[in-house]
Amino acid sequence: MSVEVRGLWKRFGRFAAVKGIDFAVEKGKLVGLLGPSGSGKTTVLRLLAGLEIPDAGEIRFGGRSVIGVPPQKRRIGLVFQHYALFPHMTVFENIAFGLRVQKRSDREIEARVRDLLALVGLSGLERRFPQELSGGQRQRVAFARALAPEPELLLLDEPFAALDAQVRKSLRAWLREMVRRLGITTIFVTHDQEEAVEMADELIVMNEGRLEQQGPPLEVYRRPRTPFVARFLGESIEIPRPSTLKGFEHVDPDALAIVRPEFVEVGYPHELSNLPAAETGIVQRVHFRGREWQVEVAVGGKTLAVYLPSEREVPRPGDEVRVFIRRLYVFQGEKMAVVENENALQPRHPARHQGPAADGSAEAPRGNPPPQASGPAAARR
Ligand SMILES: Nc1ncnc2c1ncn2[C@@H]1O[C@H](COP(=O)(O)OP(=O)(O)OP(=O)(O)O)[C@@H](O)[C@H]1O
Ligand SMILES: [Mg+2]
Repeated sequence: MSVEVRGLWKRFGRFAAVKGIDFAVEKGKLVGLLGPSGSGKTTVLRLLAGLEIPDAGEIRFGGRSVIGVPPQKRRIGLVFQHYALFPHMTVFENIAFGLRVQKRSDREIEARVRDLLALVGLSGLERRFPQELSGGQRQRVAFARALAPEPELLLLDEPFAALDAQVRKSLRAWLREMVRRLGITTIFVTHDQEEAVEMADELIVMNEGRLEQQGPPLEVYRRPRTPFVARFLGESIEIPRPSTLKGFEHVDPDALAIVRPEFVEVGYPHELSNLPAAETGIVQRVHFRGREWQVEVAVGGKTLAVYLPSEREVPRPGDEVRVFIRRLYVFQGEKMAVVENENALQPRHPARHQGPAADGSAEAPRGNPPPQASGPAAARR
């Protein structure tokens, strides 16, 4: 079922936790709700669930207002991080709970619980009690319990937060697959940007009770609408006075520029193709990260971070290297422009300046993205 939220406000006393939010989610989409602690994510889910009453605004499910509709009538399934299972009930009875409330027949309940156990991969464990399960198994029971009454909207509040990294990763893939198969509209809250980017069809990024940006992960990542989103998603380093950088002399010195590690090439002079456009930098620190090295380089008073494949020879701290900054995000007022280095060698990609690359749909998702549409002119005054 589709979800539509308009002008939603929620105050707790004098404090506004949600400040006039608008968004829409199409039926069957998997949406990741992201934001720092206290930004209002749980409050939004609780408003959708009917566990909080909004001070203003509209919430529609499938085009119909649900304001005033009690939680149990909203056709939603909830899974919270600490939404504990009933400890005195078996797995079977936990999953059957919502169906018993709905007064379904024993035969129907039996069949539905068996199907759900198979769906969540826990067949055979129906007689266990929650304390006899691992954390990952318990969360899968919680999913099965939420799905039992056939909800049309699944609301998940950091469902994996209490699990260790391995279990979390496998459950992510599992959940994504399950939600796709069932085609059920799902909104899940996470702190973990990697989790959000990997799982979601769309992201909603919140900050201080406001919605900063909504869109497909690649678009939000590639074209952050605000400095907050650029900082929050992916790695980013702020560049004060971007006009002091080679190839960016035309950028307004007072604009805020942000650079990502993947926009920067670092190497000894013979390793760089764009040598004339490169700055000189001094390697500060080198960290081994498994697949790659993280290298911190000082360039004119700023420290940039880049990643190099771990099989490559890595520069040592103190070494002088060349640093080529391929592009910057430049924020000015309400506008963001992706500004390419003017001195970049042309044309590594013949298909330069072709249409807005915002959705990135026809591009390789990682590694070496081609230059984007809004060239230097976009930030020129
Ligand atoms: N019942 C409440 N009474 C008073 N303040 C509340 C209440 N619930 C939430 N808040 C406040 O509203 C703000 C948003 O809280 P919310 O739980 O929605 O944040 P969140 O984005 O889910 O954070 P986290 O990532 O830490 O879970 C916080 O400042 C919180 O203290
Ligand atoms: Mg929360």
